[in-house]
Amino acid sequence: SSYKEAFRPQFHFSPQEKWMNDPNGMVYHEGIYHLFYQYYPEDIVWGPMHWGHAISTDLVHWNHKPIALFPDEHGYIFSGSAVVDTNNTSGFGTADNAPLVAVFTYHDMEGEKAGRNNYQTQGIAYSLDNGDTWTKYEGNPVIGNEGLKDFRDPKVFWDDQSNQWIMSLVAGDHLQLWGSSNLKVWSKLSEFGRNQGAHGGVWECPDLFKVKVEDSDEEKWVLLISMNPGAPNGGSGTQYFVGDFDGKRFTTDQKGTRWLDWGTDNYAGVTYSNAPDDKPIFIGWMSNWAYARETPTEMWRSAMTVPRTLYLEKIADEYTLFNYPIKALETLRTEPLKKEVELEVGANENIELTNLSQAEVKFTTSGRDFILKLKNSNGEETVLTMDSGQQLFLLDRIASGKTDFNERFANTMQQIPIENLPGGEYEVRILIDWSSVEVFIDKGQYVMTAQIFPTEHYTTVEVQNTSKSTLRLKEVMVSPLKGIW
Ligand code: FRU
Repeated sequence: SSYKEAFRPQFHFSPQEKWMNDPNGMVYHEGIYHLFYQYYPEDIVWGPMHWGHAISTDLVHWNHKPIALFPDEHGYIFSGSAVVDTNNTSGFGTADNAPLVAVFTYHDMEGEKAGRNNYQTQGIAYSLDNGDTWTKYEGNPVIGNEGLKDFRDPKVFWDDQSNQWIMSLVAGDHLQLWGSSNLKVWSKLSEFGRNQGAHGGVWECPDLFKVKVEDSDEEKWVLLISMNPGAPNGGSGTQYFVGDFDGKRFTTDQKGTRWLDWGTDNYAGVTYSNAPDDKPIFIGWMSNWAYARETPTEMWRSAMTVPRTLYLEKIADEYTLFNYPIKALETLRTEPLKKEVELEVGANENIELTNLSQAEVKFTTSGRDFILKLKNSNGEETVLTMDSGQQLFLLDRIASGKTDFNERFANTMQQIPIENLPGGEYEVRILIDWSSVEVFIDKGQYVMTAQIFPTEHYTTVEVQNTSKSTLRLKEVMVSPLKGIW
């Protein structure tokens, strides 16, 4: 593919062709960031799942690799993770060639069709050539199923305190943690979540990892749980819990449900294993099961979010998980337009860019009431509103471009309750890539990711002052972004 088709993202990862969903097996090894993904190479709708594969040295530019894992007699290859088995605990490698081990869910379609409820099991595969070729373990599945209809998406890490591999696995309405010394033999350690967090849908794609709390020596454990449906703005979304893990159990005294991203289009995201970066790096699937199969692209379907750095801050006595684009993405900026915007009560101003649909917009402000409209010459617009009266940030894509492919795509005004902005100035940063908008408020405290399908590139940001005093946007930067393909 030339990556020139209508709606094709220019600086986000998307497959060359056909259907993609969740990111899988995100692992760093010997200078390479691997990205595997749920892939159906025959069609642009979901089907028998494979693991597609791409690699990167900077998490910005990607090279496509051949399909890594194909369905076999145990079933389709559903979501999962990969680790570097540094000490060769599995015995798949040697002392000086550590194997990569992929841990995934087998989905046995025959079992599902026959009406059984034990058709999801867990399997493993290994690679001795840094991900180029994979061998499935002959003892698969390594975890069978005793009658749980939803039992999937293993995410594995090595735990120093208990000196074993820990697997997070979801079982419909709760998390299970399993332990192993060799990635082949697993035993169940604990359960979490039947009575915690949001339960409007099935729990999917868990991820448990340690994060340092900013400006302190404290470390906490974060658990990501994707859930479909039941997200705050409809369909699929990702909640998180901040708590502790003692080598066996995850516990939290968090009050209420917390969301990683309030937009409709960030799902099934997890973090890199073994990465050299000092903070976890997250990638999500930029779509929503409510309409993922119908979005108006033809060659391929869907893209990943930009990679994001995760970090914790303590705000109003609660641990808050921030997510913000990785630093390396700044290398895509070219000839940024820089200016200050000052608008009297009721005034507005247009900022023009030849192709705002491949660009970044960033500013700081202490303003609490303004509207930003991303517009094209076809009269299409995506409207972003900060509203202090309602204490909301809103994203409206009703007139953003093509919306009629599914009635659930644009039937709601997407909202973020804005409760804890810092007292004075804060940053607003927006990444626009033809078919997506990612909004980061206060360096990722509040995030909204949404797909859009404008029929022509946006060219204008219209800024409106809706407050009762002068609106100042400082250090405004509007930059075209280089494409990565
Ligand atoms: C999440 C998910 C996973 C599953 C995969 C199947 O989007 O439903 O739970 O493993 O997709 O493709």
